[in-house]
Amino acid sequence: MKKNWFEKKIENISKLGGYKKPDRYSNVIKLDSNENYAVDPSFFQDLVNQTRDRMDVREYPLGGTERLVASLADYVKMPKEMVGVGNGSDQIIDLVLGNLASKETWILTSEPTFGFFEERCKLFDIPTTKIPFNGEMSLRLEDFLASSRKSDILYLDSPNNPTGFQFQRKQLEKLIQSFNGLVIIDEAYVEFADYTITDMTKKMGNLIVLRTLSKSFGLAGLRIGYFVANKKTVDAFSRVIQYPYPLNTVAIEAGILALKKSKYFTDVIDLVKRERLRIIEKLGEMRVFKVFDSKANFVLFAAGGAGKRIHKALIEQGIVIKNLGKVGKYDGCLRVTVGTQEMNSRFLTAIRDLLN
Ligand SMILES: Cc1ncc(COP(=O)(O)O)c(C=O)c1O
Repeated sequence: MKKNWFEKKIENISKLGGYKKPDRYSNVIKLDSNENYAVDPSFFQDLVNQTRDRMDVREYPLGGTERLVASLADYVKMPKEMVGVGNGSDQIIDLVLGNLASKETWILTSEPTFGFFEERCKLFDIPTTKIPFNGEMSLRLEDFLASSRKSDILYLDSPNNPTGFQFQRKQLEKLIQSFNGLVIIDEAYVEFADYTITDMTKKMGNLIVLRTLSKSFGLAGLRIGYFVANKKTVDAFSRVIQYPYPLNTVAIEAGILALKKSKYFTDVIDLVKRERLRIIEKLGEMRVFKVFDSKANFVLFAAGGAGKRIHKALIEQGIVIKNLGKVGKYDGCLRVTVGTQEMNSRFLTAIRDLLN
């Protein structure tokens, strides 16, 4: 029998790979998903205990999103009318693309870029132009400027996952200013970088800056994403596009409490940055890897033909990092998340022993 439109549609969607979640292992040092273990476990314990006393889950979280938005706005020093939230920044990407992009809107992004974003473009059938990273694992501004005119949406993760690269602020500003269309700058890792561009949303009406509490605040499990944009965009998104209750009560209350303690995270971020440098230096000293600088909470390094073997051998020792294969012109690329001092030392010792 001839397939109807629905069956055809489902068949086409099923052909897509979808976003591949990381493999799940128990009792391992987990350095594959850019989570943040540098936050003390007792901090989370206190957070959960205090959250429990502040909520009644029989009720819809009426007004809760607005209170969380006010705390986020304080944190990023922007008016609350310029801040919206989502169930992780993943959901914000999903809603922005699903509602604003189409087969007619060309997206300009980098190669590689954030995997989930790429998968969403495939799902919504949005055509994409990708500008590859060059030999030094950085992007050239001129390449983007040259392709800007033919594109409707610019998406960049800044810093980029998986390379850790970030344009200089002036370069990014120039690119956004010259872009005639929607610009989405994903700042998931920005607290580990040198600058943010949230302030630029005051001047640029076509700019959406995505942020999250998953990385620097270590709250990936709570799924608290947010964005900063001009008031009109935030109003349309929050009042019309977004669900009435995008975040659950636990996430809202815990998020508000965590933001009250944002000073604590300054120390956590400093530690991560120090440890990032240590990993870069120690991997470099091993003299067999090409190690790339990073502005995020992870480090990318190329192990050539040994990449797969190293990845597997580390798993056997209870250490999981991300195996990326070829990135740019480099084979055997591996990405390691910066963890606690102890986790990082275990990783560095294990990899050094593997080489001996
Ligand atoms: C660039 C980038 N954006 C967004 C996310 C997802 O963030 P969230 O946990 O807020 O959905 C990630 C997670 O790995 C990421 O790498």
